[in-house]
Amino acid sequence: MPIVNRENSLCILADENAPILYVFTRDGETLVSSEKPEDTDFYQIRNLNAGDFGDREFKKTYGLKYALYGGAMANGIASADMVIALGRAGCMGSYGSGGQRLDTVAQAIDKIKGALCGKPYMINMLSNRNAQMEMALARMLVEKDVPAVEASAYIVPSEALVYYRLRGAYRQADGKIVIPHKIIAKVSREEVLEKFVSPPPAECVASLLASGLITESEAALAPMIPLADDITAEADSGGHTDGRPLVSMLPALIALAKRKQAEFCYQQRVRVGAGGGIGTGLSCLGAFEMGAAYVVTGSVNQGCVESGTSDYVKQILAETAMADVTMAPCADMFEMGAKVEVIKKKTMYAQNAQKLYEYYVKYPSFEAIPAQERDRIEKKILKDSFESIWQGTKDYFAKVDPAKIPQAERNPKMKMALVFRWYLGSSSRWAVQGDPDRKFDMQIWCGQAMGAFNLWVKGTPLERAENRHVGEIAKLLMHSCAYHYMRNLLIRMGASDELFGSDVLA
Ligand SMILES: Cc1cc2nc3c(=O)[nH]c(=O)nc-3n(C[C@H](O)[C@H](O)[C@H](O)COP(=O)(O)O)c2cc1C
Repeated sequence: MPIVNRENSLCILADENAPILYVFTRDGETLVSSEKPEDTDFYQIRNLNAGDFGDREFKKTYGLKYALYGGAMANGIASADMVIALGRAGCMGSYGSGGQRLDTVAQAIDKIKGALCGKPYMINMLSNRNAQMEMALARMLVEKDVPAVEASAYIVPSEALVYYRLRGAYRQADGKIVIPHKIIAKVSREEVLEKFVSPPPAECVASLLASGLITESEAALAPMIPLADDITAEADSGGHTDGRPLVSMLPALIALAKRKQAEFCYQQRVRVGAGGGIGTGLSCLGAFEMGAAYVVTGSVNQGCVESGTSDYVKQILAETAMADVTMAPCADMFEMGAKVEVIKKKTMYAQNAQKLYEYYVKYPSFEAIPAQERDRIEKKILKDSFESIWQGTKDYFAKVDPAKIPQAERNPKMKMALVFRWYLGSSSRWAVQGDPDRKFDMQIWCGQAMGAFNLWVKGTPLERAENRHVGEIAKLLMHSCAYHYMRNLLIRMGASDELFGSDVLA
């Protein structure tokens, strides 16, 4: 009977073929073995593995082996290849449709469906100020039979989202309501969570019915179902973030979701998962121990081979430490002072965007800014003249929102905002394209999970960007989570910390 030493203790905790562990005492020391000891009393415990974590119904609903999904990353950073790799690994990926043309999204869906053959995937549905564009996406998702969306940036649910939810819903002969379109809503605030745990808003349902987009029977089911199947509570994360700590918000949102759904008699339970800051196995474990139904990654995936961003950005991400991120103004909601979490190393984006925002707040027009400073903005930040960028901006709005042009011609502060937003909007594309002339202007969304991951894998092959594969990393996170759970349990049962070494990667 092997008495476990330091190395093979690590192995058996991560071994799916060692389902039972025996814990016993010999010479005053608590030991662990995968074989039953013959000459002493023992405790028998189940060796949990990666697939045991998270909510069973969640995994069953989406057909997952592991309770983990990779969140959407705009501009196709969460690419079709990333979604395919996560689906094949027993997880799920959410395609980054934000900032992408409808036909590009359609092509990505075809590629994902063709490669995954029924395995799970999601497409991101982002709240869009342009209701027509949002409805066009929703209709395409329904036409293409997309089984699930990750709904994000919503403050109030839109008609397009409600259309996606209700279209095709029906009641079976046994009374069970079947909803073919699943929604995972990503939220950071209590009042938004409440809207997604509630049924689809009655006014959206009535309007969809009146316009013939849903049937009477679909509308009749609306009061009996929650708008979302699952809610991702998103703590401080890369990109748009409310910057809240996961340990505070997750338990609060789980409790609120439970309380809120008690108001309704749903046939299903709305689950709550955790995103933001997940970059190591231990952070996954922390989330599961606080009650998360599943975990969501983002920043760590951006640095992977399958990510749609440039190799140049992937190299920067592989070298990023936790302190290398900061908050900076973002292109959408620029005028309101909204911010995103970005890398501050090897790029000046955060400083430049902040300066533009300060000029915007202080002056009524670009012309009102002192001449020397205007010159600096044009030469050092925009790298073009204000007027030439305005011409390009006008060409863009002529295609997507022509009414904006005369408004901005009359309102010089608005004109200044639109030109500054050109810089902020272009900077994320320069990052994805790896534009060598715009290295110092790249807007690279990233959260602290990246630095935590880099520290964790230091000294292993995963230190190098070219070895980072999204499916392998997802599985590693979940296996490490299981390893640390068992390790903590055995230590609490009396096993020495020394027995286990430092980590599953060790
Ligand atoms: C580069 C990048 C782009 C993102 N774009 C989107 C997006 O378009 N839609 C969305 O719902 N979330 C977006 N997110 C958030 C992620 O889906 C995910 O929820 C988040 O990154 C998880 O937190 P973490 O960054 O701490 O891992 C983005 C995150 C990053 C890092």
